[in-house]
Amino acid sequence: MERTFLMVKPDGVQRGLIGEIVSRFERKGLQLAAAKFMRLTPELAEKHYAEHVGKPFYPPLVDFITSGPVFAMVWQGDNVIALTRAMIGKTNALEAAPGTIRSDYAVHTNFNLIHGSDSPESAEREIGIYFNQDELLDYEHSVQRWI
Ligand code: TYD
Ligand code: MG
Repeated sequence: MERTFLMVKPDGVQRGLIGEIVSRFERKGLQLAAAKFMRLTPELAEKHYAEHVGKPFYPPLVDFITSGPVFAMVWQGDNVIALTRAMIGKTNALEAAPGTIRSDYAVHTNFNLIHGSDSPESAEREIGIYFNQDELLDYEHSVQRWI
């Protein structure tokens, strides 16, 4: 059982796509472990996107990610990191495969609706930025019997 950090970005929140996005992960059979509706400060944004500090797209990225509320989540399930990255699609909406979230709903690279951890190391680091250990809930989930 693996955990990952997923976050509906301000464009997804403002376009009313939280439910649609959450629904896709629920129907896949993944299990929600934690969720928080919040607004990122520039300090939090810098922690989150530490690997991108100094890149040309970093300043507009921080402006965007702090521009409105986000919906931060932890999801768990077998291979959840790779599965959710595949469901999210490539960073550039033009290259994202049809049927992925970014292909179905996004037009641009910079407004691409959702963040997802890209490795077990990033997942652990990112979950730790947003949630305390006692906020990650383990509970019986009916799909565990079937999936
Ligand atoms: P990155 O971690 O490369 O993509 P992903 O979100 O797929 O893991 O980049 C983080 C975010 O930075 C990305 O979702 C959108 C933004 N970004 C740009 O605006 N321009 C770019 O050229 C890149 C690579 C990313
Ligand atoms: Mg990334």
